[in-house]
Order: sequence, then structure tokens, then C-alpha cells
Amino acid sequence: MRYKRMPIEIEAPEGFGYDKIDCNLSESSFTDQRLSDLGIDLGDQLLLYGDHKGKPALRELVAAEAGLDAEDILITSGAATALFIVATSLLEKNGQLVVARPNYATNIETPRTIGADITYLDLRFETNFGFEVGELEKLITPATKFISLTYPHNPTGVMIDEEKLMEIIALAERKNVFLLFDETYRDMCFVKRLPVAASISEKAISISSMSKSYGLPGIRIGWIQCRDKALMETFLAAKEQICITNSVLDEEVAYQYLLRKDKLFTPNTAAIRRNFHILKGFMSRQKLLEWVEPQGGCVCFPRIRKEISFDSARFHGILLNKYATYVGKGHWFEQDERYMRIGYSWDKTEKLEKGMMNVIKAIEEARL
Ligand SMILES: Cc1ncc(COP(=O)(O)O)c(C=O)c1O
Repeated sequence: MRYKRMPIEIEAPEGFGYDKIDCNLSESSFTDQRLSDLGIDLGDQLLLYGDHKGKPALRELVAAEAGLDAEDILITSGAATALFIVATSLLEKNGQLVVARPNYATNIETPRTIGADITYLDLRFETNFGFEVGELEKLITPATKFISLTYPHNPTGVMIDEEKLMEIIALAERKNVFLLFDETYRDMCFVKRLPVAASISEKAISISSMSKSYGLPGIRIGWIQCRDKALMETFLAAKEQICITNSVLDEEVAYQYLLRKDKLFTPNTAAIRRNFHILKGFMSRQKLLEWVEPQGGCVCFPRIRKEISFDSARFHGILLNKYATYVGKGHWFEQDERYMRIGYSWDKTEKLEKGMMNVIKAIEEARL
């Protein structure tokens, strides 16, 4: 393994300094929550090594929602670790996979670090960041180990419907490859939510997390869902070599949150929808940016219109240094600098409106 830091992490706002940013549109999760606001009481928690697969009651809650069994769930320290476990378990040097691009960076970078042979399923603005299943099929070879897709999609917020998910799963079964389905944003959706892919087929490996929809990235809790028992045993072996177990404190917070999820999550959904409508209104009133309207998640991926000539370094410099506004840069997702990821539900609503106006001002000032 040859590790290399990713631009998205090197340039992450937490490294740059939250205190230097007025409008933070670079985040990809819902507003960070406070323990006291959630009414979570950790009591006199025994600080033991927990169950290696994860707190049983937590696994039962996750499983029940997906229509799975607790044995089909492995709790991990965030979805990032889950993705690492899956990639290192299924791939070796020169092992083959098909992965959608753009994507959450780790979905591409970990296979790259392993030295895998990567075939990209390129999602393009011109086709609404969508793809045909026939197109995906052509990328699969007898050597392919898995297909890696993310829905709701990061960074674009686009979705597929259940019918398409079924077609993709049928393809994975026919070709005898696994489907790694990153469902980290599953609960944030403006259209019909997809079923958990792992509940449909033994060939599907679903990944999810407490970080994004619930605004709890600090507890580092995510999970793998999969019905293939032998594969789950391998995933457990990987987890045990990485960290043995999760933090019992993190697991307890996740458990108490999910126990009362209906109550705790309802305000998030309302806030995300409100912000989305504000952003949609803003996008329709301006002339410099174009976008594919998101259908889920809390991020979107607009671009500066092709006919506008601008200096990208100047644009980001003005945006950050003059207007203290931070967006996700195109190169974080291996796309050109016309693109930017806008996270529209982490900062306050008034900062979203102000930040978007700053984006427009910075484009004007960076025009050639
Ligand atoms: C699609 C997707 N998957 C996985 C992750 C990792 O999330 P975490 O490790 O915080 O659970 C992220 C974080 O941005 C993401 O956007």
C-alpha cells in the first residue's frame, strides 16, 4: 500500500481553520450536532472492548430498518473505514473494479493505493450525471471484482430509482461481481428512498454512516451490511486488524440516536428541504452557474458556465480571502475547476444565501 493524502483532506476546512471561514459551503453533512441537544446520556458507561462486530443492540436497530439480520451488520469507524475494509478485502494489486467518477474520493483513492486496475464509469454533466446499465455492463470484464456506486451521489446529489438499482443488482448477479453500494446519504432524499441494496441480494454490499444525515461525524460510526457470511468473516478479520472494536462511547451515542431517530431526524429533513428550495430559487435567478438539480443528499455540483472565461486560482482566492467563503473545489473530485461542490445544509441558512452571493461576486471579479 502506498498512501498519499487526498486534496479533499489536505484542503479540508477543519485543517484550514473554521474560524477563518464565514460561509462554509464546503461541508458534505448536515450541521454538526451537540450531545446535549440530542438528549443523549452516556451515564456510567463501562469502558470495555465492545463486541467485535459492534454493539449488538445497535446492529439490531440497523438491521431491523434494512430488513436484515443483526449478523449481516458490521459496525465500523465511519463509512470511510467500511470502504477501506471492503476495498482491501476484495482487491489485490492489479485487481479489477469499476468505479463511478466523480465520487467520494476514498471510493477511488483506496483502490488506487492498493494498485488496483481501475475502470471508471464517468458521470457527465451533459447526461445529468446519469448512466445506462448497458454502458456499465460493457465495462465489466471476467476479472472485475466489484462495481462501486454511490447513491444519493456525492458530489452531485443525483439519484437512481429502484428499478435501476434492481437492474444493476441483476447485472452484478449475472456477471458474478459484487456491488459496493455507498448509501451514506440514503436518509436524505427528495425522491423515493432506495431499499438497502444488501437486503436485495447477497452480491450487494451496502455502506452507511451516522455522519451525514444526522450530523454526527465526530462519533465515527458507520457500517457494512452484507448477507454473504464468508465475506462478512473476512470484513471482521480486517476490522480486527485495524481497530479490534469501535469506541463503546461512539456506539452508545449512535444507539441512543437511532432509538429516537424519528424524533431527532425530522427537523434535519425539514431544514435540508428548506435550504434546497432557497438554493433552487437562487440558481434560477443567476446567470453564471449551471447545475444538475440534486434529488438527495445535501450537496450539489454546479459549474461556471462554459462561455465564461475566468481565472480559477483567482476565483478561489477572492472567494476565500476576500469573502471568507469556502466551497469544495472541482479538483477534489478529479473534475475541472469550473465545478464546485456546494454543501447546503451544514452552515446556517443565511450563510448559504450570503455564501452563494459571494460565489457570484468572486466569479465576476475573476473574469478575464
Ligand atoms: C459518499 C460518502 N461515503 C463515505 C463517506 C465517509 O463518511 P464517514 O467516514 O464520516 O462515515 C463520505 C464522507 O464524506 C461520503 O460522502
